[in-house]
Amino acid sequence: MYCIRNVTDDWIYVGGSDRRQPLFEAAHPIPDGVSYNNYLLLDEKTVLMDTADRSVAKVFFENVAHALNGRGLDYIVVQHMEPDHSASLGQALGLYPDAQVVCTAKAAAMIRQFTGLDISERVRMVKEGDTLETGRHTLKFTMTPMVHWPEVMMTYDAADKALFSADAFGHFGATDGRLFADEVDFFGEYLDEARRYYANIVGKYGMPVQGVLKKAAALDIAYICPLHGFVWRRDFDRIIAKYDLWSRYQSEERGVLIAVASVYGNTADAARAAAAKLAEKGVKCALYDVSATDPSYILSEAFRYSHLLLASPTYNNGVFVKMENLLHDMAAHTLANRTVFMIQNGSWAPAAAAGMKAILEGLKGFVFAEPVLTLKSALAPEQAGEMDDFVNAVCESVGGSV
Ligand code: FEO
Repeated sequence: MYCIRNVTDDWIYVGGSDRRQPLFEAAHPIPDGVSYNNYLLLDEKTVLMDTADRSVAKVFFENVAHALNGRGLDYIVVQHMEPDHSASLGQALGLYPDAQVVCTAKAAAMIRQFTGLDISERVRMVKEGDTLETGRHTLKFTMTPMVHWPEVMMTYDAADKALFSADAFGHFGATDGRLFADEVDFFGEYLDEARRYYANIVGKYGMPVQGVLKKAAALDIAYICPLHGFVWRRDFDRIIAKYDLWSRYQSEERGVLIAVASVYGNTADAARAAAAKLAEKGVKCALYDVSATDPSYILSEAFRYSHLLLASPTYNNGVFVKMENLLHDMAAHTLANRTVFMIQNGSWAPAAAAGMKAILEGLKGFVFAEPVLTLKSALAPEQAGEMDDFVNAVCESVGGSV
């Protein structure tokens, strides 16, 4: 059964949503699923933008066949070779033997690597500014390497003012028949999953994303058509403003992400006591237990807030393993420009603060603030003054009144 919608008169949405795979990239939980988007152009020539993940292959091929309505397929544009957009490419090439593949040279090499197919007789390699005439439409290709792989390009159709943005402007969450971001309360219901998608999938590549924003600013855009999530036809400024902040590693909000590791609960108790005092002073806080919440969510919150409060027990003379994983993830995604406060616990030789700092100190614009609050097994009653000083320092740094 097909499920298609018109983006414009000539561009048809032929992608699909999946809610059965528990993890995206075998790493990130997607409890609300994800969509894999494809767009089919019906012009004098027919053009399919990318293929699909295995999980939606059935509906994808049914959608394409229904939308073509007996016509052949002239071109398959491969903007991105990551298998969530290309696992069905081999099958598509077999089903549509006359279709020519349009892609970058790097993508052509990856097609060989991933599929084992020799497409040299049916590939049209393109570079920056090259075009594909299809009749009423002219597709113009622009190279956008590392958003999010090196072979990636985006496509602009001046006739319908549509930018096909590959992974950029995507988000987690199935779309389930809705097509446009303005058909839902995007900024109320989907922004968190857009941030989590950005931080975890594209977050490392802030500079290339800034390059995309500059290129997009020069285009007359009526539609942004990403490979995941909703199509944008309104409110461009709002989502682009978020991308601008995220890709410059600037926080969206002054506030504190509190990430807590706690083996027996004592470190968490101290972190919650700090959170309570901060909340009382009007400082916005969000607390996550690194053993209970997947790191993809906590990384996303680190992209959101200006300050990090990291609380960890000492473990194997270093940082508790779940906190260590989270911090390595932050470092791998090159988070920048954050102020870090720390609570460490150690019953006989506290070493967690030094360990946490060692993982993060190479990150650009990271400031490690004083004081560090040190617990010996648990927050002692006589440390009440120390806790107040710690909370006041966080509050002052965030910009609240002590
Ligand atoms: Fe949605 Fe980088 O693939």
